[in-house]
Amino acid sequence: MPSFVITGVSRGIGYEFLRQYSSDRNNTVVGIVRNKPATDKKLAEDPDLKGRTNIHILQADVTNYNALKAAAEDTAKITGGSLDYIIANAGIVTQFDAYDPIGKLGDRPELVTKTLRDLFEVNVIANVHLFNLFMPLILKGQDKKVIVISSGFADPVFTNKYDVTPGSLYSASKAAINMIVAKYSAQYKQDGVLFLAICPGMVEVGHYKDATPEQIQRVGGLMAKFVEYAPHFKGPDTPEQSVTAMRSVIANASIEKGYGGDFVSHYGNKQWL
Ligand SMILES: NC(=O)c1ccc[n+]([C@@H]2O[C@H](COP(=O)([O-])OP(=O)(O)OC[C@H]3O[C@@H](n4cnc5c(N)ncnc54)[C@H](OP(=O)(O)O)[C@@H]3O)[C@@H](O)[C@H]2O)c1
Repeated sequence: MPSFVITGVSRGIGYEFLRQYSSDRNNTVVGIVRNKPATDKKLAEDPDLKGRTNIHILQADVTNYNALKAAAEDTAKITGGSLDYIIANAGIVTQFDAYDPIGKLGDRPELVTKTLRDLFEVNVIANVHLFNLFMPLILKGQDKKVIVISSGFADPVFTNKYDVTPGSLYSASKAAINMIVAKYSAQYKQDGVLFLAICPGMVEVGHYKDATPEQIQRVGGLMAKFVEYAPHFKGPDTPEQSVTAMRSVIANASIEKGYGGDFVSHYGNKQWL
């Protein structure tokens, strides 16, 4: 009876992870959200998910250490003290650095500082606390897999080859969490815990919905680079497509196969799109 903790299940990729993993009634799925009443309401109104008794929603802003600690305690009560999977999905994708190259951001130094701090709070620091607080449960679990949703934007080879300028600060936060994953793996591999960072591909969740026409034009430039990199690329995946692919990577990945501490795509390799 595998158990899962997934952060950021209120919407987007996290909601789809919740939907897919909970479709197997043998799975116990704990979703962590900032606003529990809103997610409870969304679930109650979702014809697919309403009534699934294997879903447990806990409230915690992942940047709040005490709230995360309480969530770990509550999870232990739900699962009986063990945990098989963490899907560290909650993250922020910032708008400030989404379109302009890093040098241009220097026009607004105070926003550079604030954005980097916010990104590191959520995408990096919160996950370190998450792993430390839930590690005693994982060590008692069967499958022992800790997965972080990262981004191919954090690949320096891809960035250099295609001169990918957008998302500089966001990419730095994902590069940092990739290294954190490698360090956790270096420590816990010997205990049989798989740590793995996975990029979901490009997934349509509305990140560009408030973009101005000029910003949309710049996104078009980025898409042209994506097509140059991956001629088969036709546009973003749906959350359903991405999560289906990632679940297959998660199921297949193991320490024995060499995935410990690695950073792979939804294809299970370094092909990001
Ligand atoms: N979409 C893509 O193309 C793409 C590509 C590469 C990587 N990713 C990564 O995939 C993950 C999921 O992103 P998404 O695309 O599904 O974006 P999204 O729709 O913006 O969802 C982000 C989720 O994270 C939650 N969250 C943010 N800050 C939080 C906090 N402090 N405490 C608790 N929850 C928090 C949000 O909760 P609220 O509803 O409370 O805000 C929401 O559930 C992120 O780590 C992102 O970096 C996405």
